[in-house]
Amino acid sequence: MSANKIWQGNTTFILAAAGSAVGLGNIWKFPYMVGSNGGSAFVFIYLICIFAIGFPVMVSEILIGKYGRKSPINSLKKLSVEFNLSSYWKYLGILGAFAGVIILSYYSVFAGMAFSYIFNVFPSGLENPSQYSTNYFTNFSSSPFDLIFWHSLFIILTSLIVGFGVVKGIGRSVNVLMPFLFLFIILVSIYSSFVGDFLSTIYFLFKPDFSVITPQIVISAMGQAFFSLSIGMGAIMAYGAYMPEKQMIGKTVITIIFLDTFVALSAGLAIFPIVFSNPFLAINAGPGLIFETLPVAFYSLPLGSFFSIIFFILISIAALSSSISLLEPFTAWMEEKEKFKRPVLVAVLGISIWFLGLGSIFSFNIWSDLRLFGFNFLELMDYLTNNIMLPLGGLFVAVLVGWLVPEKFLEKNLNLSKYKFKAFYFFLRFVAPVSITLVFLYLVF
Ligand code: TRP
Repeated sequence: MSANKIWQGNTTFILAAAGSAVGLGNIWKFPYMVGSNGGSAFVFIYLICIFAIGFPVMVSEILIGKYGRKSPINSLKKLSVEFNLSSYWKYLGILGAFAGVIILSYYSVFAGMAFSYIFNVFPSGLENPSQYSTNYFTNFSSSPFDLIFWHSLFIILTSLIVGFGVVKGIGRSVNVLMPFLFLFIILVSIYSSFVGDFLSTIYFLFKPDFSVITPQIVISAMGQAFFSLSIGMGAIMAYGAYMPEKQMIGKTVITIIFLDTFVALSAGLAIFPIVFSNPFLAINAGPGLIFETLPVAFYSLPLGSFFSIIFFILISIAALSSSISLLEPFTAWMEEKEKFKRPVLVAVLGISIWFLGLGSIFSFNIWSDLRLFGFNFLELMDYLTNNIMLPLGGLFVAVLVGWLVPEKFLEKNLNLSKYKFKAFYFFLRFVAPVSITLVFLYLVF
């Protein structure tokens, strides 16, 4: 690999990886999942999954990418040749590349919605803002054309950044975007905590109540942990290939996980105080939570429309720095075949993803009655990726690095103190694979 494909300095990798992790998953999905899954019980399981499964899997992914210095698929190939493993391991990368493309197809639909809400400033003097908001969302989501417009815009932006390549496109944009994002989210959550019901939010998010934990909550929390950390499909592995040689993986992962968790919890602190202090807003509103209820909440608050605009800009930026990592593995893999140039590949991929995304758009309107295995198209894509493909990818990564790659190789490349390495190795070999397998067994039986 040539030197111009390595990010310069330690911060670009951290910002790129945190930019991938922090996205709609934190700001849009985390709050509504918490709201619909019993609050603190979900938060508790989610945090356990982040540390017990997320940490070892993310370290392993970066390790493979950094060692291979290629797309996930070819890094896996290189690893299996080096250690005499089956050549089938490259299919782990292929599974991931496809998972990324499928996720991006519906991710883009919601990112597009967030985009459009930047311009959704409520007219003043409304008598019933919550009714206005619900009507607005219903009208918006029942119009395929509006959704297609914003979906297209988002796919084009994502493709442009990825088309410019990892150093210029991704490296530069995250350096600018991420610091803004953190500043904004802190601002909005402080604002909400002052004007809304802070105390109820703290109880809801953190007051322990283990009696409400159900298998369904565990499955959803694990899927959400994978999704939020961007692990299980090779996104972080692809970025690992651009990590500077001297950068320490363990420390870096701790920083990324901290930032991701911080933003998810901040999003909770930004949204719930407003929901709790407004009798019209329902905590379990589902995927529409931020779209249907937040504008209402902001409407009734001083400087509301200003903060609403900031909030949706914030979400759009976060979504963009995540979506590029969903497209990168497939692109990098195709680029290595050296048949076509990156911009051409990205264009073809972008158009295919755009088409797939139409299925999710139609789930809101013309296909709303269509059911496949009991799900609508959008739910099926979501379930297939978050609850099956990502955990499966994570399980294979843990087995590969924990059981098939020699311990010496890990010790050498991770450079941890003896005690820390032992703890990491235990979680990688036992805790992560066993917990993922248990959840799968429950799903099957
Ligand atoms: N983690 C991002 C979010 O929270 C979404 C994302 C980006 C992702 N890349 C990924 C999810 C790879 C799974 C796998 O919004």
